Amino acid sequence: MQECVLITGGAQGIGLACALYFAEKGWSVFIADINENACISASDRVRGSAFAVTDVADEDSVRSAVEKCSGRFGRIDALINNAGIASPYAAPLDKLSLEHWNRIISVNLTGAFLMTKHCVPFLRKNCGSVINMASTRALQSEKNSESYAASKGGLLAFTHAAAVSLGPEIRVNSISPGWINVSGWDTTEADHAQHPAGRVGKGEDIASLAYYLASKEAEFITGQNFTADGGMTVKMIYED
Ligand SMILES: NC(=O)c1ccc[n+]([C@@H]2O[C@H](COP(=O)([O-])OP(=O)(O)OC[C@H]3O[C@@H](n4cnc5c(N)ncnc54)[C@H](O)[C@@H]3O)[C@@H](O)[C@H]2O)c1
Repeated sequence: MQECVLITGGAQGIGLACALYFAEKGWSVFIADINENACISASDRVRGSAFAVTDVADEDSVRSAVEKCSGRFGRIDALINNAGIASPYAAPLDKLSLEHWNRIISVNLTGAFLMTKHCVPFLRKNCGSVINMASTRALQSEKNSESYAASKGGLLAFTHAAAVSLGPEIRVNSISPGWINVSGWDTTEADHAQHPAGRVGKGEDIASLAYYLASKEAEFITGQNFTADGGMTVKMIYED
């Protein structure tokens, strides 16, 4: 039986890049995403995949997605907690609504907890692994991004705590992407040149790292965070 990856937010962007990459490597792919139209078009593109329209912040919805995935493919070998409200920008802190704060934390952080909780029995059986999609914004910020930064910082802490609790059967790691252009934004030469690696990121840059972390080649690696940002966070920047 083929190995199976469950990818939240797998219908678009980085999640879809992961879905295409794992499918290309021969894995079964299950997409759990809140956007039904995007799920339908992703499942057309990702060979042999299945999906459930899912809100990762809702425990019943999560339980049902995990049941559908295990029912369809009979196993779960990797979970990629990628679903997120990806825009970091919000209102200034003194105007930030509790509703906005709670939704960002619920989707970006609680969603990873709920999905991991319900996948544990399946992952344990196959010595599987969890990959949490954090962000370089877990450790550095622009103005007015408190809820997003806190959700991603929480994911880094969740990653090491879960790695200690769930080992040795299950490994848990996180990826912190930098700027990954999955939305087809126009980019300028300067956008690319500012990166020590010489370019803005692509979905495949993250998918290939996720694939490595899910593979047996990475069996000694757990509780870690991997930055994939073209070198932006190691660049020292002082204003003139
Ligand atoms: N693109 C980047 O530059 C970048 C950088 C750092 C981190 N990230 C993180 O990577 C992940 C993917 O980002 P992206 O740029 O591909 O974003 P995206 O908006 O293209 O994709 C996010 C996907 O998550 C889904 N989603 C949103 N809320 C959901 C919910 N409640 N339940 C289930 N699915 C839900 C969306 O429908 C969408 O398909 C996010 O966690 C984001 O924070 C992205």
